[in-house]
Amino acid sequence: MPKKDTGIPDKPSAFIEGEAQGGVETGQCLLERVTEPCCIVIFGATGDLTSRKLFPALHHLFVSGGLPERFAVVGASRSELDHDAFREKMREAAANGGGQPGHWEAMARHVFYQSIDYSKPESFDRLAVFLGELDEEMGLAGNRVFYLAVPPTAYKVISSRLGGAGMTRERSPDEGYSRLVVEKPFGHDLDSAMALDAALHESFEEHQIYRIDHYLAKETVQNVALLRFANSIFEPIWNRRYIQSVRITAAESLGVGHRAGYYDHAGVLRDMFQNHMMQLLSLCAMEPPSIFEGERVRDEKTKVYGALQPMNLDRLENRLVLGQYSSGVVEGEKVASYIDEPGVAEDSRTPTYAAMKVHLDNWRWQGVPFYLISGKRLAEKRTEIAVQFKEVPCSMFRHILGEHITTNRLTLGIQPREEISLTFQTKAPGPKVCLRSVLMHFDYYQGHQGPVLDAYEKVLLDVMMGDHTLFWRQDGVNLCWSFLTPILDACGERNMLYLYRAGSWGPQEASRVIPEDMELR
Ligand code: BG6
Repeated sequence: MPKKDTGIPDKPSAFIEGEAQGGVETGQCLLERVTEPCCIVIFGATGDLTSRKLFPALHHLFVSGGLPERFAVVGASRSELDHDAFREKMREAAANGGGQPGHWEAMARHVFYQSIDYSKPESFDRLAVFLGELDEEMGLAGNRVFYLAVPPTAYKVISSRLGGAGMTRERSPDEGYSRLVVEKPFGHDLDSAMALDAALHESFEEHQIYRIDHYLAKETVQNVALLRFANSIFEPIWNRRYIQSVRITAAESLGVGHRAGYYDHAGVLRDMFQNHMMQLLSLCAMEPPSIFEGERVRDEKTKVYGALQPMNLDRLENRLVLGQYSSGVVEGEKVASYIDEPGVAEDSRTPTYAAMKVHLDNWRWQGVPFYLISGKRLAEKRTEIAVQFKEVPCSMFRHILGEHITTNRLTLGIQPREEISLTFQTKAPGPKVCLRSVLMHFDYYQGHQGPVLDAYEKVLLDVMMGDHTLFWRQDGVNLCWSFLTPILDACGERNMLYLYRAGSWGPQEASRVIPEDMELR
């Protein structure tokens, strides 16, 4: 057990609250330093997520001064390691994430390890004793975040054992909080999602559960709500009167990599649509909440999921096209087909691409199609939301320019291009009346000088601050599964899979669902 930590090393002041520089940002926009002490317990501490994402994020937060003065990180997993061996592993993880070794020595004083056997209640009793001692030694006030960086099959047992060892109770505000962080997938259909939720609720109450969707922590995803609701010029036209259609794209150039064990059972609909695509959809389509606060925002998103028009399963082919990549060339490199990836069954029918046309049954969006497209091994990585406006109602230039005038399109680039652009028509300079389409463009980081948080840094900070805004609520999860489960069942019963060449924009058959002007290219 370490000596009580009396001081934290000098930290750069990147996170100190204040007015942003440059005169272009308003408000107290830099941070949010967590002030309450906290102990973060990471289950699955020797796994990939911990070393690739969580530790680099924690280390960066530490260096930037975002963590509270009194904090501890306890890694827990099956491997037999001592504190120092675990610290050494995490030092490497932090360095791979760009950490500076000088800061590591100071950070290491807050890092501990407990080996644990998830099947054994006494293992959790020992953890409870250890955490109690750490509370005493480091003044952590009994505040705990339990992060499940383990396969979903272990969620139930860990949450139940935590409950069994008395680590999930929040008796009174003075005795500290207990929060559980879970990663998707939240089940593989409606029934299993509800069963998982019921199991988590045996030990935790809803306000203690944080269901991560890392898309929500992306800067440009958060920006969708701010752009819509902090500008008076967008909301009046953000509806079926002015908008023709909306396309939401999450295209990836990467293949399945080494995740076939999970992905081959999930496929693109469970992997991307049930979560990230639905969140992007709700941010585009939701009504303005009365205040930008966790429950109010989640109420509005849930209404969007409740408005998803069930698909006519007899005519599913008109609304959904599924694909699987064959070999091809992506970004100049030859790549294998999906079925030749390591761990994929050679007769796999798992879709790696889907194009879906979705409607929302409410006044704002009646009749406006939302096209959702996501796939692996497509021509490039591109996540964006394209809002296609309607044509002018009557062209007074028709005798000169013909009946049709190119319409306006607002594109919100999420990644890798973090930008907003608007196409509009202007007169082409010259003696004749001619139109040309021009582009107005904003780079998201233009004029910004402060720090930027990676998605996992944001998630960890929000959990410590008890802010649920960027996390799924179970009613939303259930509504999305209610929409998708019948579709998944129907797809399983018929052959809807088309092959597409890796490096292309998906199967040609997608044109059945996506109109020409909304095709990806
Ligand atoms: C994950 C999916 O949730 O999101 C992956 O499981 C996918 O299959 C990834 O590649 C995409 O995330 P990002 O942030 O790279 O767009």
